[in-house]
Order: sequence, then C-alpha cells, then structure tokens
Amino acid sequence: MPLVTTKEMFEKSKKEGFAIGAFNVNNMEIIQAIVDAAKEANSPVILQASSSAIKYARINYLMKMVQAAVEEAPNIPIAIHLDHGPDFETCKMCIDAGFTSVMIDGSKYDFEENVRLTKQVVDYAHSKGVVVEAELGKLAGIEDDVNVSESDAMYTDPEQAREFVERTGCDSLAIAIGTSHGAYKFKGEAKLRFDILKQIKEKIPNTPIVLHGASTVIPELVEMCNQYGGNIPGAKGVPDEILHEASVSGVSKINVDTDLRLAMTAGIRKVLAEEPNAFDPRKYLTPARDLIKKTVKHKMIDVFGSSNKA
Ligand code: G3H
Ligand code: 13P
Ligand code: ZN
Repeated sequence: MPLVTTKEMFEKSKKEGFAIGAFNVNNMEIIQAIVDAAKEANSPVILQASSSAIKYARINYLMKMVQAAVEEAPNIPIAIHLDHGPDFETCKMCIDAGFTSVMIDGSKYDFEENVRLTKQVVDYAHSKGVVVEAELGKLAGIEDDVNVSESDAMYTDPEQAREFVERTGCDSLAIAIGTSHGAYKFKGEAKLRFDILKQIKEKIPNTPIVLHGASTVIPELVEMCNQYGGNIPGAKGVPDEILHEASVSGVSKINVDTDLRLAMTAGIRKVLAEEPNAFDPRKYLTPARDLIKKTVKHKMIDVFGSSNKA
C-alpha cells in the first residue's frame, strides 16, 4: 500500500484501545530498523522527522528512503510525519514533498497565536489531504531548539483543549501531562497526570491524543552505553507499565526518539570498545541497527499493543 495518513490508524487505535509508536528517523539504518520491526510485529507505524533531522538527512534522501521502506513493507500502514514543525513554511515544505502528516508546534506561543498558526497550517494541509497534529501545553525539558524549564512546564488545560480543537480543526493533539523530552525526565518517582488525560478525553472525545517525550530511557541501554565508555548518569524515563496504561487509556500516538538514540549509541560503543581495531562502519552499524529493531519491536508488542493491528 502507499504511504497513509494517520487517520485510519488512529480510528482503529481509539476503537481497539492501543497506541501507535511514532519513531524519529535520521538515517537509513534507523528507518530500516523501525520498518523491519513493524513488519515482524505486523504493526502500523509512524516514521517522523524533526526539522533538524531534515536538515541533517536532507528531505529528498529522507523521502526516497521512506518510499523504499514502503515498497519493502507493502502490508504495513506507514505514515511519514513532520515532528515539531516550527513554522508554516517548514510544514508547507514537508506537505509539498509528500509527507502525509505534519505537526505544527505552536506551544511556544500564547494561546491566540497558537490557534492562528495552527489554523493556517490546517487550512493548507487539509487542502492537500494531509493531517495535522498540534500541541497545547508545555513539556518540561528540551523541545527541539526550545528549552523549557521545569517550572515553566504547563499541563494542558482540558477546557482550553476543547476550544483549541474546535477553533483550529487540528486532527490530533499533543498534550502535556508530565512527560518531557530527552533522557532526564524525572528526578524522583516517574508519574503522569492520568486525571488530566481523562478530563481532556471527556472534552475532546473524537480527537486522537499524542504523548511526546515518552521514551522509557531503557535502563539496559543506558548501562550498556556507560559500560562501554559512555557517561550518562541519572537518566530516567517513563516506565513501560505507565506507557502501557497510557496506551489503553486513550493515547493514540506515542513518540520515541531518545530510546532509539540510546540503542544506536550502545550498539556502536560496544563494538568499538571490544574491537578497537574495527573501522568498517558496517561492523558497528549492523549491531546498532539490530538493537534499534529489538527496541522498537518490544514497544510494539509488549508496551503499545500495536502488534497484529496492521
Ligand atoms: O522532540 C524532539 C525529537 O527528539 C527530535 O529531536 O530536533 O534533535 O531531531 P531533534
Ligand atoms: P523522547 O525524547 O522521550 O524520546 O521524546 C521524543 C519526542 O517526543 C519526539 O517528538
Ligand atoms: Zn516531541
């Protein structure tokens, strides 16, 4: 099948109570690992690229690699999504290049400007058959190039969410309920505000909910990085059980980047530490790609419940 939007995937996820993983891609190995995992798990999947990923990999290369993945996985619904679109122009560039979904992240602006900007993107995207994710509320931590301090992080207000969705016509909404980007999400106990999620769902029952900053920061991968020369102390993410609860409680899309970065780094570090003479990139990128695939498959099968939902 050709690239799809997230519309049908989200309808199914809402009806059947599971979440779809949205995995950040930056290069060929990451794309191959994610799509191979989706094939083996028979799971729908969202590939997403941030504006910095697009700068790094270049949009033409990205789209051609995604097309290759689609041809190799004809039975798997695959969407290609812009993650944290910073402005109208970037969203337009991605839509024109064939992305099937874009995020416009107006959460750095005040409510009225977020509404205006999101509506502008929605109008253009919908005219081209592309769907739009928007964001309301602020996550703590580093959000693309924006650094939001923990005290500035703001949970999404459920009533504002209702007004926002009504005025913008966005197709899905990223909310802030306690997650944050990167490897340092919690100082103490990991906790999400499921009470706020429930209130939001009551206000916008037809709008798929998105969770950003949802990596587990898998302890085994952090340990592996540290064992082979890394220094990532005190890293902490959202445990699998909490993500599973989110998946069955009405979250339709769960974003994962940090866990993929850790898997790739751990795989490369191990080879280079154990075989200091190695200098063939295939020697260390192959195990790194395998580790990303294993990580993605675990999430699809054991955490998000999206396996066999293709
Ligand atoms: O939420 C942000 C993603 O982890 C992408 O990060 O802008 O460094 O590609 P990036
Ligand atoms: P993590 O940093 O938790 O992987 O979150 C990624 C994300 O939200 C991408 O938009
Ligand atoms: Zn994000």
